[in-house]
Amino acid sequence: MRVAIIGTGYVGLVSGACFADFGHTVTCVDKDAAKIEKLKNGIMPIFEPGLESLVAKNVKEERLFFTTEAREAIQDADAVFIAVGTPSRRGDGHADLSYVYGAAEEIAQLMDGFTVVVTKSTVPVGTGDEVEEIIRKTRPDADFAVVSNPEFLREGAAIKDFKIPDRVVVGTDDERARDVMRELYRPLFLNETPILFTSRRTSELIKYAANAFLAVKITFINEMADLCEKVGANVQEVSRGIGLDGRIGAKFLNAGPGYGGSCFPKDTLALTKTANDYGSPVRIVDTVIEVNADRKKAMADKVIAAMGGSVTGKTIGVLGLAFKQNTDDMRDAPSLDILPALQAAGARVVAYDPEAMKEAAHLLKDIEFVDSPYKAVDGADAMVIITEWDQFRALDLNRLKTAMKGNVVVDLRNIYHPDDLAKHGFAYTSIGRPA
Ligand code: UGA
Repeated sequence: MRVAIIGTGYVGLVSGACFADFGHTVTCVDKDAAKIEKLKNGIMPIFEPGLESLVAKNVKEERLFFTTEAREAIQDADAVFIAVGTPSRRGDGHADLSYVYGAAEEIAQLMDGFTVVVTKSTVPVGTGDEVEEIIRKTRPDADFAVVSNPEFLREGAAIKDFKIPDRVVVGTDDERARDVMRELYRPLFLNETPILFTSRRTSELIKYAANAFLAVKITFINEMADLCEKVGANVQEVSRGIGLDGRIGAKFLNAGPGYGGSCFPKDTLALTKTANDYGSPVRIVDTVIEVNADRKKAMADKVIAAMGGSVTGKTIGVLGLAFKQNTDDMRDAPSLDILPALQAAGARVVAYDPEAMKEAAHLLKDIEFVDSPYKAVDGADAMVIITEWDQFRALDLNRLKTAMKGNVVVDLRNIYHPDDLAKHGFAYTSIGRPA
């Protein structure tokens, strides 16, 4: 199959590289000439494990191409994927669809022969109808079908999520489009991935429902963690105890500093906006959004409490800035709430993150960035772990203790065992676990 992908952001690039690796011929199109030039030279715009080598291999084997010229790519394509950004619109929180509609117009002008137009971007229910309308208006003679095919890729694990997904969702009533989609994803059927055909609107809603449900799950366990702290219970054991129930499931029950990233905050907000517009509010998600925002703020208070109620003139060494491990993404990261609050309370902050410091430098002020976890805590009164990078999980505790001036450790990801830290003389605070 010949595939064109509009937008070489996170989703477009990963999907393009994976489809190419399946054996399809893929052209990724982006208006950003500098980005395309870099991609042609093997330089990735984002950090994603395994992506660079996957792109290099498929470029070398001439299945994956990058261009700023949409014409040829779209003309030749059996399927054109729209994978452009849908940020929150300033002011009202609705998804901003201007890039999606722009792509639809461009595709309409260039497509040739029966073309399946696939929205991969996360778009509110009804967007497929709009895209169809735009194409129909621009090219009344065009032979096409608009399909919804949401992505369920986690940053940091995106290639695995693409190649070994729990399911593929395809929303369309068009039989020819179903055949094209079936053929595109055929390599997945070898490992028996379920492919779910639904209507377009259902498919669009599945994406938001999935992300909102996961946000609910995380927020639920975060509130359980707070309760654990009050009643003297252990949230990790609560997670395990409920997660072993197949109806609940063990995943996404890790308590932490609150969810962040480019998806959950944006998608929960957009879902509640849509729901309110249709007069069918999703109150549980409204509450989750509020609880999660409060939680990120409360994490700074937790650090201050662990340091005896004041951080004025104290130095805090921070490990991890990205919204989760294995990414350089800082969007809606809890660190963006926590660090300014600690600075406002009078602390000096020294920080280390394996990948996100460049991005963080644009967003955080007056932070001293260093190039190792040990340097971050050198002379510090406290160490705060915000992101669960693997390399933070087995630090040399003796070395940390010697490097630090104080002995306070606040672990917002529960990556250490309280007993180990106590043994080494640390005053250890974590999430939802007795000291
Ligand atoms: C999420 C979904 O997991 C993907 O399926 C979806 O495709 C993607 O959004 C998207 O819509 O594009 P992502 O935002 O990359 O993926 O990251 P997650 O791994 O889901 O983590 C989101 C946030 O939840 C992070 O801040 C993470 O630290 C937090 N989290 C996750 C927890 O606090 N506890 C958990 O148990 C799991």
